[in-house]
Amino acid sequence: MFICSCNGLTDKDIHAAVDAGATRPQEVYAAKKCRAKCGNCVPGVVCMLRQALRDQKALTAALRNVGEMSDRGTMQAVA
Ligand code: FES
Repeated sequence: MFICSCNGLTDKDIHAAVDAGATRPQEVYAAKKCRAKCGNCVPGVVCMLRQALRDQKALTAALRNVGEMSDRGTMQAVA
């Protein structure tokens, strides 16, 4: 889905930028080698960026929990 029609920035581009370490809107645009022009997309980029960062944080926490369970042998007891 296109988020920024001026630059052809998509939701997948935003997720790819977050996966590459972007945490600010400017970093999302920079990852696509562009920058906001008219600015109409900025609220959408901010919203998607926040959601992607929340998802990434939740995934990291879940993976950390799995790792801790594995370290304690809990995963072997469950399996
Ligand atoms: S729609 Fe993104 S800069 Fe215009």
